[in-house]
Amino acid sequence: MLSPCRKVYIETYGCQMNVSDSEVVLSVLAGHGFVRTDRREEADLILVNTCSIRENAEQRVRGRLQIFQQEKRRRKVIVGIIGCMAERLKEQLLEEEQVVDLVVGPDAYRRLPELIAQVDEGLKAVDVKLSGTETYADILPSRYDANGVSAFVSIMRGCNNMCAYCIVPYTRGKERSRSRDSILDEVWQLITDGYKEVTLLGQNVDSYGWKAPDGTVVNFAQLLEEVAALSPTLRVRFSTSHPKDMSDEVLYAMARHRNICRSIHLPAQSGSTRMLELMNRHYTREWYLDRMAAIRRILPDAAVSTDLIAGFCTETEEDHRATLSLMQQCRFDFAFMFKYSSRPRTLAARKYTDDVPDEVKTARLEEMIALQNVLSEESKRSDVGKTFEVLIEGDSKRSAEEWCGRTSQNKMVVFPKRGGAVGEYVQVHVTGCTSATLLGEMSQI
Ligand code: SAH
Ligand code: SF4
Ligand code: F3S
Repeated sequence: MLSPCRKVYIETYGCQMNVSDSEVVLSVLAGHGFVRTDRREEADLILVNTCSIRENAEQRVRGRLQIFQQEKRRRKVIVGIIGCMAERLKEQLLEEEQVVDLVVGPDAYRRLPELIAQVDEGLKAVDVKLSGTETYADILPSRYDANGVSAFVSIMRGCNNMCAYCIVPYTRGKERSRSRDSILDEVWQLITDGYKEVTLLGQNVDSYGWKAPDGTVVNFAQLLEEVAALSPTLRVRFSTSHPKDMSDEVLYAMARHRNICRSIHLPAQSGSTRMLELMNRHYTREWYLDRMAAIRRILPDAAVSTDLIAGFCTETEEDHRATLSLMQQCRFDFAFMFKYSSRPRTLAARKYTDDVPDEVKTARLEEMIALQNVLSEESKRSDVGKTFEVLIEGDSKRSAEEWCGRTSQNKMVVFPKRGGAVGEYVQVHVTGCTSATLLGEMSQI
């Protein structure tokens, strides 16, 4: 039997999907007498929700485990690894990391209470079985990082894309979509609880497809419209779009609803068609530019962000130049840029050579970051003098006299308080910017 009211401390690494999963995990555990704590020293159970996307993401977790090891020498505590590293390394983690008692993959979270009970009996416990169907549809996540304004809603799990560099299909399994009704119910619950913004999550939201009992298939554009129609004051965001699948239908759905945010995350990965082909991305540079043109045509006020990889296998200086020129052509508002990191089992690790020297990867990455800094600054400067509707998220980092919040375009704005409250929409006139945020003044209310 589990004793009542044990305390769980959870650290979450990786993507938004992991944040959302940690909320599912806490909800499962709450049903079995666990309460969450943010003080590790008082926890009976330490969980690390891990990411395998790049080597350094895993190294960070290994570093944390050393610290937990020291803690475990001082007192009794269960340490569990969950998420993508658990799935990738399986039992091997128990051998490599003495401190670990529990290894649970992303599709096995319902079994956590049972597995913890095994550890209570003095055993180690592992469940890394992937599922073709699990979506945790019936589990209402415990919103733990909650400002009560903004929440993630997972609409699908897994990925079928097999991009050559990517570990996600191996750690998350096959793609499956959650039922429309359970998504709408969850969003409705959030609205009832006072939330003002939801982000619909999937590795490739454009391939969302759920078969209704009457046999009709609900696609992403339809789901998006149904979520947006629940409340005109609910902001709806989503991530991630895949350029090969992002349809005009989705863009028109966005255009029809003011509350679907003007912000699209469209990872390009590279500007070179040769690289894109090797990456198994199923689009060309021209196709990407066509999708970009469609966004500009249908949603002229949308911000576009992207992901880019520097130094993928065989990348030449010319390929790299093509990425820089794509960035310039698209004028991204924001970009996440990474050095290629070879991941075991992926197509690239099996079939290609990781032949771009590290110092070349670094130099290319730095060049990309420098260019993006210029583009991001231009993007912010072009907002100066305009007025935006901003959803207030809380005090600014700098001062309790200032609010911070986001525009529909997902740009952070900081402005002096003149009334307003967390979770309210206000009009903000942008008067300037720093490297990270817009600065503004609230219109009188
Ligand atoms: N499903 C999303 C996000 C995947 S992970 C998508 O398809 O876009 C987020 C980003 O990490 C990817 O877009 C990619 O730019 C980067 N990434 C993935 N694998 C990587 C690797 N092996 N090395 C470096 N960056 C990688
Ligand atoms: Fe990885 Fe590609 Fe799937 Fe994104 S779409 S998770 S990059 S395999
Ligand atoms: Fe990382 Fe897994 Fe997300 S590998 S990026 S936590 S799906």
